[in-house]
Amino acid sequence: MTATTNPNKALWEKGDFTEIAATMRESGEALVDTLAITEGMRVLDLGCGDGTTAVPEAQLGADVLGVDIASNLVAAGNARAEELGLTNLRFEEGDATDLSLLDDESFDLVVSIFGAMFAPNPFGVAKEMIRVTKPGCRIVMGNWIPNDPTLVAQILKISASYSPPPPEGFVSPVTWGVEENVVERFTAAGVPEERISCERETYNFNSPGSPSELVTAFRTYYGPTMNAFEAAASNGGEDGLQAELEKLFNEQNTGNGATSIPASFLRVTVQR
Ligand SMILES: C[S@@+](CC[C@H](N)C(=O)[O-])C[C@H]1O[C@@H](n2cnc3c(N)ncnc32)[C@H](O)[C@@H]1O
Repeated sequence: MTATTNPNKALWEKGDFTEIAATMRESGEALVDTLAITEGMRVLDLGCGDGTTAVPEAQLGADVLGVDIASNLVAAGNARAEELGLTNLRFEEGDATDLSLLDDESFDLVVSIFGAMFAPNPFGVAKEMIRVTKPGCRIVMGNWIPNDPTLVAQILKISASYSPPPPEGFVSPVTWGVEENVVERFTAAGVPEERISCERETYNFNSPGSPSELVTAFRTYYGPTMNAFEAAASNGGEDGLQAELEKLFNEQNTGNGATSIPASFLRVTVQR
């Protein structure tokens, strides 16, 4: 019997997302500072990567479980927790579409920053996040916004123009960045609309090198960009894709001598 490949898992195990996550640590810490974390709070960080938000959550005293579909990122997260001596932080492999490894109503806070948005079956994901959250407690998501003029939406737009059309029935992850979709998904999971709120916030990608070097990091380590370059290579479009991304990163850079590029996202808060 041949093992079936989960394309969602394969995408994120490709390359090495930790290299991109390293540019997002400051914004991750700043976001966690706004979460009102208290000592001993049980936190689930879903689609946690190597712990950009899970690490600061644990440093504030929460009892944190990071769940991610990519086994290399789970291993990287556990290595960071050990290196930092954080015994209240552990990472496990799991899929946001099926959290059956977790009990009902077991977390005081569920956080998913650019994580669960990438799982297929968004209605199932919303239902699972609600199921594992204790009544009266919160879910906080960060979701990239479609067609936004800032960095990430533009990377996705440029990449899509060099890639084949997605398969029939594919639901784009950035639909999670549209308030009506968010409301539809969480109300379908049983949450009254007035307990769902959305606001725009900003994340910064900070890197000591030039904007063009950051493009190279995305091309070398970030699964979705690696796939776009592979698709572009099949029809000689690699140089065009590189040039468009370099133009974008350079135009949006606000750093002086280094790189700092802001990107807008939709912060979603759901009170269960
Ligand atoms: C853009 S990264 C963000 C990681 C992390 N939250 C951060 O802020 O650095 C997206 C993450 O979602 C994870 N992911 C994608 N699909 C998932 C799924 N179905 N279940 C759990 N994690 C998933 C990926 O493996 C990856 O670590």
